[in-house]
Order: sequence, then C-alpha cells, then structure tokens
Amino acid sequence: MNWDDTDEDVELTAAEHAHLQRLTDADADNDERAVEAALRPKTLDEVVGQVRVRDQLGLVLEAARRRGRAPDHVLLSGPPGLGKTTLAMIIAAEMSTPLRLTSGPAITHAGDLAAILSGLNENDVLFVDEIHRMSRPAEEMLYMAMEDFRVDVVIGKGPGATAIPLEIPPFTLVGATTRAGLLPGPLRDRFGFTAHLEFYEPHELDRIVHRSAGLLGVHLTAEGSKEIAGRSRGTPRIANRLLRRVRDYAQVRADGVLTLPVAQAALELFEVDESGLDRLDRAVLDVLCRRFGGGPVGVSTLAVAVGEERETVEEVAEPFLVRNGFLARTPRGRVATPAAWHHLGLTPPPMPTVDSTLFDD
Ligand SMILES: Nc1ncnc2c1ncn2[C@@H]1O[C@H](COP(=O)(O)OP(=O)(O)O)[C@@H](O)[C@H]1O
Ligand SMILES: [Mg+2]
Repeated sequence: MNWDDTDEDVELTAAEHAHLQRLTDADADNDERAVEAALRPKTLDEVVGQVRVRDQLGLVLEAARRRGRAPDHVLLSGPPGLGKTTLAMIIAAEMSTPLRLTSGPAITHAGDLAAILSGLNENDVLFVDEIHRMSRPAEEMLYMAMEDFRVDVVIGKGPGATAIPLEIPPFTLVGATTRAGLLPGPLRDRFGFTAHLEFYEPHELDRIVHRSAGLLGVHLTAEGSKEIAGRSRGTPRIANRLLRRVRDYAQVRADGVLTLPVAQAALELFEVDESGLDRLDRAVLDVLCRRFGGGPVGVSTLAVAVGEERETVEEVAEPFLVRNGFLARTPRGRVATPAAWHHLGLTPPPMPTVDSTLFDD
C-alpha cells in the first residue's frame, strides 16, 4: 500500500462525507487508517504524552534487549484513538523484530490461532487488536501459548480426537483492548506488563497537532493549533482528523494558513463545538433537557428521540458526555447535569441534591 499519496485531495471523498457526521468518533475507518500511518510516531521518543507508560515500556524493552530475549507479553488498554496500535508497532520496531498483526474478531476458531502461532519465528511480536473479542476456545489456547510456548492442536472429533502438542518459538504477545474489564482473569494475568492509556491533556494534543501539521506540510499558528487541540476530546486520532478538516477549509476558503479564525470557522462548519461536542452529542443533550426535563430517561427512549441506534448513543456519545460531566448514568436512566443545561444556553431547573450513591459508576 502506498501511504504517501492518500491525503492530498482537497475534494472530500464519499467516505469522508459520510464520515463528517461522525467527525468526533474516535474509531478509524479504512481511508483514515492510511492517513494515520503517515502520522504515527515510529519510536518511543516520538510518542507525545503518556509519560509513565513510555518510561515503563522503555525500561521493559531495554531490559529485554540486554538479555537478548523477547520482552514479556504486553497488554495495552484504553479508549479508541489513544495510541494502542501505535505502541504495538513501536514495540516491534524497538526490538527490531517483525510485527504480526491480527485481531480478536478474526480469530473465530482455535485453529485460526494455532495457524498464526505456528507461523511465528523466534522473538516475533504478535499483535492481537481487540483481544477481548476472541472466541473462548482460542482464548484458552492462547493462555497456554503465552505461558509455555506450546499449544495442543486437537485433530478429529469425539472419542477419536487426539491432541498433538506443538512447540512455539518464544514470542511477545501484545494485546490491545478498549475493554480491559471484559478480559477473563487468567488471560489478563498472563501479561507481564499492562499499560493503561489515559486521555491526553490539551497541551499534549497541541504538540501532536503541531507535529502532524509538520508532517502534512501545513502552516498553522499557535492559536489555530490550540483551538483544534481543545476540541479533540483528549484523543490524538480526533486531533489529527480535525486538523485535516481545518486544513481542507484553509486551502479552499482561506490562504492555506491554519489561523484561529480559520480553525473556528472550519470547526463550526463541521459542527464540532468549543467543548468538542458534535451534532449527535448536542442532540442527545437537547432532547434530554428540552423534551424530558433533564431526565431521568432510559437510553433506548433517548436513542429513539434522536433517531439513532441505542448502541450509537451508548458507545459514541455517552462516554464523552459522562466523562465531561454533561450527563450522568443512574439506575433510573440518564440525567442531564447543570453543565449540560448551561452548555445549551438553558437555565437548569432547581436540582434536588443528588445522592451520589445512586450512580452506577
Ligand atoms: N502519543 C501519541 N503521540 C502522537 N500521536 C499519537 C499518539 N497516540 C496516538 N497518536 C496518533 O493517533 C492516531 C491513532 O492512534 P492509534 O495507535 O491507532 O490508536 P488506537 O490503536 O488506540 O485506537 C495515530 O495515527 C497516531 O498518529
Ligand atoms: Mg488500534
């Protein structure tokens, strides 16, 4: 694949148009993956932020290098777009070994995993993205492979089935998951090092925007960069995406320089507001406050009211709204916080003092 010439068109592709509705979705689509590859840090030193994870991982890798052994298995957890795939690639690069890449949903049978494992060479890094979505039998095979570098391949069915032991060269498993809580304990325990990625601070996103602008060859001012960083939901993937949209705008409607007014106008056009809320986020808050008096209201009702799937509301809009204190999940339903009312320019109704023991999380 040629990563270089994918991002030059100012005309938006159909996929990008479709994507505009989800400009602040932290997941990447296929077109985006190509662009992202060009912006990915290639070494630990290039990684912005995540200082603790970087230091710890640096130590683990350095120690393994000195011993001339494959490093311990590594689990990377955290929300989408924070750098899990990037770190997996860096682990392989820093160990100067090839990265074998697969994902949980691609491993539906234990046999799929056996085929992958038996193809590994000594000290390879095997990256399993979305590892929490692997099938149960494959998971069990993986425990054994991680611990003993051996698997039992079962041939045949029923009473005649035989298990043939298969040796596997020492390798490093790097697992990534957005849902560490969904991993069964025995699997989690077999990782020697677990890194949890946190959302990024605005000044870190600001550095990422500057770095990406440099790589994309676009001119941006300090204020323009800050504006993009501030609307990026703590997520580098979103920061890079907003940067590309502002760049499009700057090239078509301005003189190509990403200044504060250009960033503001572009992000207004794409309906990403000062807090990083997009149309769906605002629709959810709007319905919650105006139609349901601030709640509590069930998430299904809310989803119908904004004309979206329940999953979309629950997995795309809510986590951000909850994290930023606009919405609370209670056993009786979703509730708008005073911040939500203020954000919509409305006056919150007098609130009964909220009993914090009511909240799930
Ligand atoms: N710490 C970081 N510094 C600079 N850029 C980053 C960082 N983390 C992520 N990115 C950028 O964000 C994009 C998404 O990161 P990725 O590793 O694919 O996230 P994840 O796998 O967690 O969803 C990458 O293209 C990369 O350019
Ligand atoms: Mg990823």
